[in-house]
Amino acid sequence: MDKYLVTSALPYANGKLHIGHVAGAYIPADIFVRYLKLKGEDVVYICGTDEHGAPISIRAEAEGKTPQEIVDYYHQSIKKSFDGISVEFDNFSGTARPKHHELSQQFFLELLNNGFINEHITQQLYCEHDKRFLPDRYVEGQCYHCGAEGARGDQCDACGKLIDATLLVKPQCKICGNTPIVKETKHWFLNLPKFADPLKAWLDTKESWKDNVLKFILSWIEDGLIERSITRDINWGVKIPVADTEGKVLYVWFDAPIGYISSSIEWAERIGQPDRWKDYWYDEKTKLVHFIGKDNIPFHAIIWPSILMGQKQKYILPHDIPANEYLTLEGDKISTSRNWAIWVEDFLRYFDGELLRYTLSANAPETKDADFSWKDFQTRVNSELANILGNLVNRVLSFSQKNYDGVIPFTSDLSDYSKQTIQEVREIAKEIDTEYREYKVRKASKLCMDIARIGNKYFDEMKPWACIKEDKEKTKETLFVCGEILKVISIVFAPIIPQGSAKIREMMSFAPAQNWDDIFTLNDSAIKINEVTTMYRKIEDAEIEAQINLLKEQAKANKADAVPQYEDKLEDIDFDDFMKLDLRIVKVLHAEKIKKSDKLLKLKVQCGNNEIQVLSGIAKYYEPEQLIGKDIVMLINLKPRKMMGEISEGMILSAHIGDDLRVLIPEKPIKNGAKIS
Ligand code: 2FM
Ligand code: ZN
Repeated sequence: MDKYLVTSALPYANGKLHIGHVAGAYIPADIFVRYLKLKGEDVVYICGTDEHGAPISIRAEAEGKTPQEIVDYYHQSIKKSFDGISVEFDNFSGTARPKHHELSQQFFLELLNNGFINEHITQQLYCEHDKRFLPDRYVEGQCYHCGAEGARGDQCDACGKLIDATLLVKPQCKICGNTPIVKETKHWFLNLPKFADPLKAWLDTKESWKDNVLKFILSWIEDGLIERSITRDINWGVKIPVADTEGKVLYVWFDAPIGYISSSIEWAERIGQPDRWKDYWYDEKTKLVHFIGKDNIPFHAIIWPSILMGQKQKYILPHDIPANEYLTLEGDKISTSRNWAIWVEDFLRYFDGELLRYTLSANAPETKDADFSWKDFQTRVNSELANILGNLVNRVLSFSQKNYDGVIPFTSDLSDYSKQTIQEVREIAKEIDTEYREYKVRKASKLCMDIARIGNKYFDEMKPWACIKEDKEKTKETLFVCGEILKVISIVFAPIIPQGSAKIREMMSFAPAQNWDDIFTLNDSAIKINEVTTMYRKIEDAEIEAQINLLKEQAKANKADAVPQYEDKLEDIDFDDFMKLDLRIVKVLHAEKIKKSDKLLKLKVQCGNNEIQVLSGIAKYYEPEQLIGKDIVMLINLKPRKMMGEISEGMILSAHIGDDLRVLIPEKPIKNGAKIS
């Protein structure tokens, strides 16, 4: 029996889970763990939320909340999504918890004491407007490796490379949009070059790792390992356990993987065996398997093993890092900022989580990116789950129930064809075994469905509906063999569709699948059938169209909300063109709603000695009284226009974004009529 410690990347507690997340690091891991449990292996499955880092403090600042509030909210939201798709961790912790902080500090101190951490004065980007350093995601610019726009201060999503923020081309502060300056500050660096040899020696033993992972790491090592800063100038995170480090914390990528250990410790305490975690982390026989998305490769394959190697205590190193590729959505990259995503919690409002598990397994982004489309989802559910698997279950159980007094009959009188069919199914089950062991859920899922296909073919060829009219005794054989096939399906498919499998077994009065080897023991008596119900309902075209529309609407709504980027600016104009605009400060004398329009307000404004009437589409944002007496900005030489039967002699200037609008008001009072340029 092998011992496994399986982890899934700790999701950042700053947003909801979408299908791209779960397709990569969670569903495949959960399937692997369920498979190992069926095989009777000793396995613990660990996860938790990644609760530090710039994205969380950025979100907290933007929403006027504390980082802890953000983290608590998303921890729950993420956990609920996992529950909805039956991803079951043995422990789901969070890195803002005190025990995790203590452990991370301990790891840091040991590395420091063992000479693996150096202190350096460094150049960092600093925003003079916000009076703060801009680590990681606080800054964006153009990637100096690949030229892509929107590279963040820590990593470029386009090429996956890590970034030194001071080298970003055209950097911009994410808070205010200004160009930052470079300023000195002190930081602590992990001395990766010291680990180069042991890392290489260790990686040499990892020939069976996935190609994408090995390629990535080797190119990293070829580029030369350099010291990496493991501290940051922000307040949210694990405090640096060294004097005079106010305003600085450990880098999120330093403490996050330590979360695998702190969550294991939490697990051991929770089950009342506080030292149990050591049986895994200290025992070199344990296979540590990290399921991650491909953007996390360098952290798990280089930095994390170095952190572990730098400890006096001998910890196990990753046995394997099955990193998955990306999932695209309807042919387009999933993007949370563009709201081009299917959020798991939204999916669960309409469909069963198990359908997502099946679709994302059948089409897993294992060796290359895979695409999720609603149409494909419908086909998978209707043509595979319902028409192949559901149909087999239904026809076998209903037929037996009706003709054999509520049981699948037993017989030991099997023809060669029947014996061959059982043999064929067992051979496929063995293949599935291998595929699961090698994390190939795509292939495993196809093979599971192939067994159901074989079952249907066998049923069709044996024609029990005709046979029973002549020989009821002989017809038992068909049902017996089909019952056998259903039993095998309920075991091999259990990791992918645990509830579907449980349902088949419940209808056949079996306990939930627990033992892989049951595949190879023939049923030895009649099987009592419980109430037979439909396994999978078919999804209508209208439901799929509705989802496609929802997705488009959601992205469109988001577009209106999105901050227009500098790159979106209109064509350049001449100075003279600008000077043609007569912009003035005017005072609002009177304001009222216009009957028959919920958008327009009618204003009378004073400009010097004149009174002007102007209509403005701001009724949704301001009550008339809120504007009376205010100085505002107006374009007064716009040709007069008639709107709703009223004349409008200019335009009120306002700033607007999405559903929000503000009329412009000078920062200090100034005489009305004043020119603006
Ligand atoms: O990329 C991410 O979502 C990270 N939060 C993954 C962290 S994995 C681990 F090291 F904690
Ligand atoms: Zn700024």
